[in-house]
Parts: sequence; structure tokens; C-alpha cells
Amino acid sequence: MRFDDQNVVVAGGGSGIGQATALLFSSYGAKVVAADRNLDGARETVELIQQVGGEATAVQFDITSRADNERLVQEAVAAFGPVSVMASTVGWSDTTFFADEDEDYWDRIIRINLLGSIYFSRAAFDHMKEHGKGGAIVLTSSDAGKVGTLGETVYAAAKAGVIGFVKSLARETARDNIRVNAISPGPTDTPLLRAQSDQHVIDRMIKAVPLKRMGTADEQAAPIVFLASAGASYITGQTLSVSGGLTMTS
Ligand SMILES: NC(=O)c1ccc[n+]([C@@H]2O[C@H](COP(=O)([O-])OP(=O)(O)OC[C@H]3O[C@@H](n4cnc5c(N)ncnc54)[C@H](O)[C@@H]3O)[C@@H](O)[C@H]2O)c1
Repeated sequence: MRFDDQNVVVAGGGSGIGQATALLFSSYGAKVVAADRNLDGARETVELIQQVGGEATAVQFDITSRADNERLVQEAVAAFGPVSVMASTVGWSDTTFFADEDEDYWDRIIRINLLGSIYFSRAAFDHMKEHGKGGAIVLTSSDAGKVGTLGETVYAAAKAGVIGFVKSLARETARDNIRVNAISPGPTDTPLLRAQSDQHVIDRMIKAVPLKRMGTADEQAAPIVFLASAGASYITGQTLSVSGGLTMTS
């Protein structure tokens, strides 16, 4: 799993799973573009990478803007040359009941979790196809999209959409040697999970996990990096559950 001198974009790189992913790519030799709506978070990631001698730059962008996704690729190319890996961990959820939600909330959930992944992947595909050297796109779904979660109805729909999108896009991009995969996290100890669940809810989630604990951001980062690596060169169209056995599918 080496990425020496490769240009790797990590969207969502300012927090949680994305920050861990950016650090791990850097430790394998990549030049990392940490992109996030939260510029302070992205800058923190860059500092952490630079402190251990890595190369990185921060870009502020909003994944729900098509123009921002295109600008992100342009800024990444300007910083470190053609991009070989584009990974996104951007996502957002707020546990509520369907009957209490309004259209603005649904719109926000779908735009951040599904439409954003589509815009991001299109910007990645256009760049990688034009450059002609193949590449890897890695997105982030959720086990909520596989088995459903009480209180995350529309989020689960958006994350299930990511799974179908990955399968179909992978078929279209294969001729250009661009692989498309996703991870599907289960409960993972990050700022997002802590913001939406108190300890009581977390304890209940853990009961359903065969490994009887939450995952860590590092444990999500490792499969993202693997899916982007040469070690996964024959893997495309897959969404890998990383959830302590919560979801087992054939
Ligand atoms: N933590 C979990 O238990 C869990 C479980 C299943 C799936 N996931 C998924 O994993 C991914 C990472 O989650 P996390 O727990 O690390 O969350 P996090 O909140 O720590 O990180 C998400 C990052 O996305 C950024 N972001 C949000 N909206 C954005 C936008 N519109 N444009 C650009 N950046 C934006 C945030 O600023 C943040 O830095 C998400 O897609 C989430 O849905 C997490």
C-alpha cells in the first residue's frame, strides 16, 4: 500500500474518519489535499501531516456545490499535479423521527450524503479520464443504508443511494481503469457520532455489534486506503461494511 508522490484528495479531511484517512494516506507517501467545508479542520489535518514531514494542503469546499467540486480538482492539480485518488468521507446526519422532519431537512440530508457524492465523483471522473492514467474513487456509505436505522430514515435512503451509485458508476468507468468503491461504516467514535448520540444510545448500538464496541476513525481509514491502493486493483463496484460484524452480506 504505497502512494509515493501520488496526489490524493480526501474530502471530509477536516474531521473524524476523513482526518484519519488523510493522515494514513500521507504515512504511505501520498501528497494529500485535505478538503472540507470546515477550513480550520482541514488546516489542522495539514499541520498534523506536516509535523511528521508529510506534504499536504487544505482546500475549503462545499460538496453540495458542483462548481466547488470542480474547483477542488483544479486546486488539487495546481498544488500537486494530476490526482490519482479521490476519496470522500463527507456526510451528515441528525437523529430524528421521520414524522417530525421537514423538507429542508430532507433536502440537506440528500444533498450532503448523496448528491454531494455524485458531484464529487463526476469531478473526479472527468479529471481522471482526461488524464488517462486511471485512478480510484472511494466514497462513504453507511450500514444504515444496508439494514436501516431508527431515526435515520432519509439518511439511510441517501446512503443506500451511494451503494447503487457506486455499482453503476464502476461499470461505466472501468473502461478507463478508474475503480469506484465505498466503505460502509457502523458505529464509529467520531465527532459526528458524539454529536448525535448520547452514551445510552451508543451503548444500545454496541449491543448489536458482534465485536461489542464502536469502531475508531483509524479502523475506517485503513479500508479506504486499501480500496484506493494497488492491492485492490481487481476490486470495483463494492461497498465494504466496516462495522464489527453488524452487517453480514454475501
Ligand atoms: N461515525 C459514524 O458512526 C458513522 C457511521 C456510518 C457512516 N458514517 C459516515 O462516515 C463519514 C464520516 O463521518 P465522521 O463520523 O467522520 O463525521 P465528521 O463529522 O467527524 O466528519 C465529516 C466531515 O464532513 C465535513 N462536511 C460536512 N458537510 C460538508 C459539506 N457540505 N461539504 C464539505 N464538507 C462537509 C464536515 O465538516 C466534517 O469535517 C460520513 O459520510 C458519515 O455519514 C459515520
